[in-house]
Amino acid sequence: MQRSFIVLLCLGLVRAMLRNHTVDVTSPDIHYAGDVMQCHANSCSPRFVTEGAFNESEAITTGSIAFSFTGTAIYASLSLINGSCSIIVDGYEIQSFNQTAAGVLFGVEGNISQSNLADGLHTLLIDPTTESSLMLFYNLLYTASVPTKESHVGAIAGGVIGGIVLTIAALFLALFARRRKLIIRRNQRKSTVLRAITSARHDRKGGEEGATELPM
Ligand SMILES: *[C@@H]1O[C@H](CO)[C@@H](O)[C@H](O)[C@H]1NC(C)=O
Ligand SMILES: *[C@@H]1O[C@H](CO)[C@@H](O)[C@H](O)[C@H]1NC(C)=O
Ligand SMILES: *[C@@H]1O[C@H](CO)[C@@H](O)[C@H](O)[C@H]1NC(C)=O
Ligand SMILES: *[C@@H]1O[C@H](CO)[C@@H](O)[C@H](O)[C@H]1NC(C)=O
Ligand SMILES: *[C@@H]1O[C@H](CO)[C@@H](O)[C@H](O)[C@H]1NC(C)=O
Repeated sequence: MQRSFIVLLCLGLVRAMLRNHTVDVTSPDIHYAGDVMQCHANSCSPRFVTEGAFNESEAITTGSIAFSFTGTAIYASLSLINGSCSIIVDGYEIQSFNQTAAGVLFGVEGNISQSNLADGLHTLLIDPTTESSLMLFYNLLYTASVPTKESHVGAIAGGVIGGIVLTIAALFLALFARRRKLIIRRNQRKSTVLRAITSARHDRKGGEEGATELPM
């Protein structure tokens, strides 16, 4: 009974949702190691704001970009204006972009994507691999599992109510079984007594008539 109560409670708590969190590239949570120019729609000419930039923010930098997060996936977008860069997650290179190799005059679009990470703390590092690299960073989001407050409360309430219902059901079953057993036992006793009385009567009668009868 207690065990099913605990199982119900755990089932409710384990249910977590995956949610994407978008981070403004000008957020202090992002560490820019080199020179950086950060702009918002209201501080830069709108012409400079890249299409698809979250919150109309962007960061133009010559140095590395580092971001730590707790979750299962990371996605980012940048435009490599010059040079080359390496995308490193937890110390391993997952991608690299090279503007020279692409042979384009202005910007290589880079979509960074790393999913299926173990749920935990991870680090994304966007590292320039040439002296004169120049990057325009405009999108960053990560996936994290969040046991929402509502589902938490709901789960606990569900677990508690489920536990109470189960407890009451088990109590009823136990009471019912006990009552049945008592009734059966009482009936058995009654029939034994009845049988004894009947056979005693028969015995007496039999004794008078000189005949014997087996008890039922
Ligand atoms: C998060 O965003 C990425 C990229 O846009 C998408 O592929 C992924 O399905 C999203 N995940 C969730 C849980 O919304
Ligand atoms: C969007 O940018 C504004 C400044 O332009 C800032 O105050 C706000 O916090 C940003 N929103 C998010 C979600 O980062
Ligand atoms: C672009 O990078 C190359 C090396 O990758 C460098 O020679 C060149 O000067 C850079 N251009 C600018 C405008 O920084
Ligand atoms: C980028 O591409 C150019 C031309 O293909 C090559 O010379 C250079 O070594 C590459 N740089 C990196 C870091 O891969
Ligand atoms: C990057 O993703 C955007 C939309 O998310 C898409 O329009 C663009 O073509 C992608 N670029 C590359 C180089 O894959």
